[in-house]
Parts: sequence; structure tokens; C-alpha cells
Amino acid sequence: MISKVKKIGVLTSGGDSPGMNAAIRSVVRACAYYKIECVGVYRGYEGMIEGDFKELNARSVNNIINKGGTILKAARSEEFRTKRGRQEAYENLKNKGIDAFVVIGGDGSFTGAEIFNKEFDFPVIGIPGTIDNDIFGTNFTLGYDTALNTAVEAIDKIRDTASSHNRLFFVEVMGRDVGHIALNVGVGAGAEEILIPEENLGLDRLLESLKKSRKSGKTSSIVVVAEGDKTGDNVFELAKYIEENMPKYEVRVSVLGHMQRGGAPSCFDRVLASRMGVKAVEALLDRKSNFMVGIHDNKITLTSLDLAIKGKSKINAELIKVSDIMTT
Ligand code: F6P
Repeated sequence: MISKVKKIGVLTSGGDSPGMNAAIRSVVRACAYYKIECVGVYRGYEGMIEGDFKELNARSVNNIINKGGTILKAARSEEFRTKRGRQEAYENLKNKGIDAFVVIGGDGSFTGAEIFNKEFDFPVIGIPGTIDNDIFGTNFTLGYDTALNTAVEAIDKIRDTASSHNRLFFVEVMGRDVGHIALNVGVGAGAEEILIPEENLGLDRLLESLKKSRKSGKTSSIVVVAEGDKTGDNVFELAKYIEENMPKYEVRVSVLGHMQRGGAPSCFDRVLASRMGVKAVEALLDRKSNFMVGIHDNKITLTSLDLAIKGKSKINAELIKVSDIMTT
């Protein structure tokens, strides 16, 4: 049982994602509502190690719900992987009177939080913030919905030029280990093929499928490729292979990259962030620790950090089938 929490630290860690500011705002306002103090930790665990802290009150987070990025900055900290780094972080937190923290980030950030909790018996709660949606224990991570909309909008524009020139476009979207973004964006943008790490289509089948659709009368096509897909070494190699084997087709590559991580969060992400932030603070006030806040069937839930880290988020098999039918 942990003692009553009086001062909560909040940090954003790992890759940023739209909705992180809305989550910071929610944590800060929930602390103000429950009359406890809140301190912002800058640059994730890096700032914790360096003691880069700032007291936050309800007014410090005015006008940020609609902003992309994170006002607290984000970082991937190598030093926090070391015992010495974590010891320094612990001493800084204690000196500042912080007795619990909420970390908004992905599985790497949760792993750090879990180790820290075990070493120092320090109360921690995680909020899943990553565009990849690759965290077990939640249907949605913060920023995923916004990233989907950003990517679909970009591909719609690529489609305009693809069809004007009768071209085949390979569009790479983010998703280091999982294909959630690619699959959803591919279906939403009407892609001809969707390549994801969970399924290896293989170069020959890709070629066959593109030839078939060309024969059926399609003059332009979009192939959405997840960053982590294993069909070729990379999206440029795929494009080269297809161009060599379909010489009549003009092939182009577009890598959407980090633009998918920016921009104003969608309404869905803002609401989700607001709900998750409140739950994170309430969990700590209920003397709970080592949990991640998630959402299931529109209910806010808690999953142990351990499970959130070790579990695997599953690709939607029904959506794969839908995408196959749509490309008939
Ligand atoms: O984890 C989120 C993510 O955007 C991945 O999709 C991508 O592979 C990675 O971060 C990129 O990280 P960085 O910002 O370090 O280049």
C-alpha cells in the first residue's frame, strides 16, 4: 500500500504523439481539482535525471488542448537505462517532494517506469501515447486517431496526382513493428495493396496482384507500406522491383514520415487524453501504482504495466479481409 500522494510529476517520453498536450492538461487540471500539486518534468526521463522541473497549475495549461507536440518536450533517454541514471532521477524527485509520477509514452517508457517502481517502490501510472497503437491493454493509444487522419489526408492528395499521371505510388506510413496505421489508412484511402509486418505478401504475389489490377482496367494505384513491413528491404527496393517487372508503369515513392506525428489532435484524441489523464491521477489517489490507463469498449480501464509491456496488440483480422475484398 502506498502512502497518500501529494505531489505528482508528469512527463512525456519516447516519440511524441498528438494528444500528449491534452493529456498533460488533464493531469494538471485533475491535480488542481483534487487539490494536490503537479510538477512538469521536461524532456522525459532525461529531465528527471537533470532535475528539469516546473511547477504547473491549472492556468499553466491554458490553450494547449488543441496543440500538437508536447509542451514538456520528449526524449528517449539512454541514461535512464542505467542504475546510476535512475538513482539520480530518484534523488531529484525526492528533493522536489514529488511522490508519484504519470508517464505519457510507449512501451519503452513503461519499461523504464516499471523498473523504477521496482527499484525505489515509487508509485507510477502510464498513459499510452504513441501513434503506432501498438500497446496491449488499450483499444487506442493517444495520437493514433490523429495520425490516421493525417495520413489519409496525405494519401488522398497523392491519389490526385497518381491518377493524373497514371502512376503507381508506394506510400510508406509509420509503424515500426506493427501495421495498424498502414491497414487502417490503406482501407480508408482505398489502397490497392497494404503491406504490413504481420503478413508477408512476398514480392512475387505483390507483382502478380498489381498486374492483375492493371489488367482489370486500373490505370493508377496506391500501395500503402508499413515502415516495419518485411516484403523488401525498404519501400524503395519494392518500387524498383515493380518498376523493373512492370516497365510500362511509372512508379513513385512517397514516405510520409514524421509529418504523421504532428498537427492538432483530433477530437477523439483530445477526449481520450482528457479521460486518461483524470483516471491516472485518480488511480494514484486510490493508492494504485504500476498500471497503465487504457480504453476498452469505451470504458477507461487499468492494466498492469507488466502486461501492457509484455502483451502484444493484435492486428484486426476482419479488417484484413475487408481490405482484400475492397481490392477486388
Ligand atoms: O513509435 C512511434 C514512431 O513514430 C514509429 O512509428 C517510428 O518508427 C518511430 O517512432 C520514429 O522514431 P524517431 O522519432 O526516433 O525517428
